[in-house]
Amino acid sequence: MKISILSGTPKEDGLCQSFIEAAKQGAFKGGAEVDEIRLSDYDLVRCQVCSDGWGTCRSENYCIFGEDGFDAISSRLQNSDAIIMATPVYWGEISEVMKSFLDRLRRCEFDQNGVVRDKQVLIIATPGGSGNGLLSCLEQMERFCRHTGAIIFDYIGGNRWNNDYKMIAVKSAAHSIAIGRKNGDTLI
Ligand SMILES: Cc1cc2nc3c(=O)[nH]c(=O)nc-3n(C[C@H](O)[C@H](O)[C@H](O)COP(=O)(O)O)c2cc1C
Repeated sequence: MKISILSGTPKEDGLCQSFIEAAKQGAFKGGAEVDEIRLSDYDLVRCQVCSDGWGTCRSENYCIFGEDGFDAISSRLQNSDAIIMATPVYWGEISEVMKSFLDRLRRCEFDQNGVVRDKQVLIIATPGGSGNGLLSCLEQMERFCRHTGAIIFDYIGGNRWNNDYKMIAVKSAAHSIAIGRKNGDTLI
């Protein structure tokens, strides 16, 4: 089992990264290999909205600007069995770098044979002091999963006053994915 962590945080520490570390712990405990993809390590362009709204993303399932790292990241996702998406909440949304990437990926996934289709996804968002915008941020990632046919395993929001017990939940969720729990399995 290989799990990719798609990270939208630009920081190497902080709240969002703490949740990512908890997810890694759970995944490793379950025997999974982890590939942490830090989107901020790339200089990804935003979707250029080619032609009349659709470009090669629609006709040939690839982005003509893919050499900026988009293709490399897509391959890493393709080579994984499950995905953990984690982002800080910025302006009540996913971080800009996460948005840029997901906007392009969902277009390339349009033909039903995409790299995330039928894969379990754990969605994590971390708001700051206000806590505002958590739901809209989670909802954005949910919509990406609905558009691409990914299977949502769980949604977890963690902030500065709940992170002790939410990190336990993240660790457990990643562990559950790693050991092969399927959505719909009955536990008790
Ligand atoms: C540009 C920007 C916008 C932000 N917008 C929000 C927001 O809408 N709601 C919120 O609760 N926190 C917001 N924050 C705070 C981040 O969500 C905060 O950084 C988050 O808790 C992640 O913690 P970390 O940066 O230590 O990983 C924002 C931060 C930045 C840099």
